[in-house]
Amino acid sequence: MKRTFSAIAFFLLPVIVIGGMWILNRDVTTRNREYPTQMGVSPAQLSQTENPVLPNRMTLQKPPKGTIARGFMPFHYGSEPEEAKRAGAELTNPFESNDENLMRGKYVYEKNCMVCHGTTGGGDGPIIPKFPNPPAFKTEASRSLADGELFHVITRGRNNMPPQESVLSAADRWKVLLYIRELQSEEQNTK
Ligand code: HEC
Repeated sequence: MKRTFSAIAFFLLPVIVIGGMWILNRDVTTRNREYPTQMGVSPAQLSQTENPVLPNRMTLQKPPKGTIARGFMPFHYGSEPEEAKRAGAELTNPFESNDENLMRGKYVYEKNCMVCHGTTGGGDGPIIPKFPNPPAFKTEASRSLADGELFHVITRGRNNMPPQESVLSAADRWKVLLYIRELQSEEQNTK
């Protein structure tokens, strides 16, 4: 009797297991049942969606006043000429004039500045004379300006010179200045 029972169990077991798998076989194209649901579906709001809890009903809030973006150095100078003079007295170029920095400066110059300032900084880029001439960098007036003062012009802009603060990183603005200094010191530009 015991023997028969185990023989039946032996043959029945695969039938039960495979049959059970077949019966419970779930449709993989539909969502499985979840329990408890809160753990599967996060109540977090997407940043660009409406929010019933936060001010303005906006999920994405403005950063608090005075927030400084990571890696960003605020430039504490106004746009006035006196502020340019102050920048000239207080700031020095933190980058040294080596090949790597000059190459980066040249790249930035050719992409962003050459169109107005010209290949050699003569103030004769392809957009001139449709656009008023910028001063030539080789002039004594331009060469005698302090690094900080030129950095101020590049950052804040001046008259027709568009500000580059939102276009270029501070590092790129300093490096392009290194390249301008290089243009100024080149023999062919010192006429
Ligand atoms: C749309 C044309 C234009 C572009 C682009 C431009 N500049 Fe200028 N830039 C000018 C003009 C015009 C002036 C003269 C402003 C003035 O009259 O005060 C000037 C002035 C300057 C000065 C001051 C020169 C001096 O002797 O006082 C510097 C430095 C300078 N630009 C650097 C740059 C750099 C670096 C870039 C690129 C990142 C750039 N500029 C892009 C038009 C331009």
